[in-house]
Amino acid sequence: MTEIPRDTLQEQTFYEQVGGEETFRRLVHRFYQGVAGDPLLRPMYPEEDLGPAEERFTLFLMQYWGGPRTYGEQRGHPRLRMRHVPFRVDRAAHDAWLSHMRVALDELGLAPEHERQLWDYLTYAAASMVNTEG
Ligand code: HEM
Repeated sequence: MTEIPRDTLQEQTFYEQVGGEETFRRLVHRFYQGVAGDPLLRPMYPEEDLGPAEERFTLFLMQYWGGPRTYGEQRGHPRLRMRHVPFRVDRAAHDAWLSHMRVALDELGLAPEHERQLWDYLTYAAASMVNTEG
């Protein structure tokens, strides 16, 4: 029987298809560069060093898209809406958050289909994190 290369069978996870850990690290690193310079978002982050927050978010996204389950081992169930309750996520914070994500995603230069999938998820997730009106 002829061997069919694994890639052509669509067995790869989304995580693998977009380049694995390196891709998610680049995305979130660029995103946090935006957050670091954002007058609305930066003060929301409790720790002076954004590094640990960057690591948590990276591990979460890697796990969500089919990569290693390190986030869960370290943090348990994501319960993201609950974890955001201490922060005032209003429309302005939502818009700022997504704007930095858009820049980071553009710079990855993913295939259009992958990019769309990731962006659809991020916009949906960001909308669901809003917990304050105005
Ligand atoms: C809509 C605007 C958003 C704002 C303003 C916001 C803000 C924050 C802040 C201030 C933290 C605490 C930083 C830390 O110490 O880890 C945080 C944590 C986190 N956020 Fe968001 N966030 C938003 C949307 C999202 C979305 C859409 C996702 C997922 C796709 C997400 C995933 C996470 C994760 C995984 C953590 C760490 C949770 C943990 O403690 O394990 N956030 N966010």
